[in-house]
Amino acid sequence: MASTGERVLVAGANGGTGRELLAVLRPTDLEVRATTRSHANVDALERLGADEVAVVDFFRSADAVRAVEGCDIVCCALGAPPSPRHFLGGKLVDRTGVSNLVTAAIGAGVDRFVYQSAIGVGSSRKGMPLPGRLIVRGSLRAKGDSETTLRRSGLEYTIVRPGRLTDSPPSGEVLVGEGGDSVSGSIPRADVARVMAAAPFTPEARNRTLEVVSRDGLRGTPKHLAEIDWAVDRLGIEREAES
Ligand SMILES: NC(=O)c1ccc[n+]([C@@H]2O[C@H](COP(=O)([O-])OP(=O)(O)OC[C@H]3O[C@@H](n4cnc5c(N)ncnc54)[C@H](OP(=O)(O)O)[C@@H]3O)[C@@H](O)[C@H]2O)c1
Repeated sequence: MASTGERVLVAGANGGTGRELLAVLRPTDLEVRATTRSHANVDALERLGADEVAVVDFFRSADAVRAVEGCDIVCCALGAPPSPRHFLGGKLVDRTGVSNLVTAAIGAGVDRFVYQSAIGVGSSRKGMPLPGRLIVRGSLRAKGDSETTLRRSGLEYTIVRPGRLTDSPPSGEVLVGEGGDSVSGSIPRADVARVMAAAPFTPEARNRTLEVVSRDGLRGTPKHLAEIDWAVDRLGIEREAES
């Protein structure tokens, strides 16, 4: 259980999942620092519940250091905007930016790091249909490199690999798989945010890589399901994310 006043960095807070994370963290006693690349988003993020907003570009390592300073927990929901780089690879925030953030987190003595990756990355490649996998193969490789960087970092981590993201309301019924070839399908960003917010307070999630889809969004037969007792009580929300 966290002590009152722990500070969480929501990296990529202006994105779809990032905004859901702000909503989930708002009623908690955690201090929330949000990041965005644009000053134009600061007021909106504060209205969504951020206690402070850092305007940063994670391609710059100094910005990553500034963002993470004084934080106990990092929830990383960064993702590259649409571009040919998703296919071609190269300089992507999914690799360079996340790497800068992990390095900064180590330097700042961060306790726990939650990384939003994707089903389709590494051992979970079969969980993403082949056409989609080809289109975003550059970013999948970049995310795979970031997963490896985080596992080797010495930080306590949870890697959350969601299926295809939707903007549906939270289902509260999350299926968790482990081992890559486990679950496939879709999941609301709001469900992903709940899992990510609960992960730092969930002992069973420590140093694990977990695939997540919603029960409604499940495609095919699940394999290798993991029993996780998510610490949703820590977040003050009513419906539980189920394993
Ligand atoms: N789409 C899917 O079906 C799917 C499935 C599984 C996993 N994912 C992954 O899940 C993650 C979250 O996805 P999402 O759609 O919820 O997010 P999103 O709306 O694409 O938001 C990503 C955020 O990353 C931030 N960002 C990008 N480059 C940055 C940089 N250089 N420095 C600082 N911030 C930067 C952006 O911030 P600003 O708005 O401030 O510019 C943006 O708000 C992504 O990694 C995505 O690839 C997606």
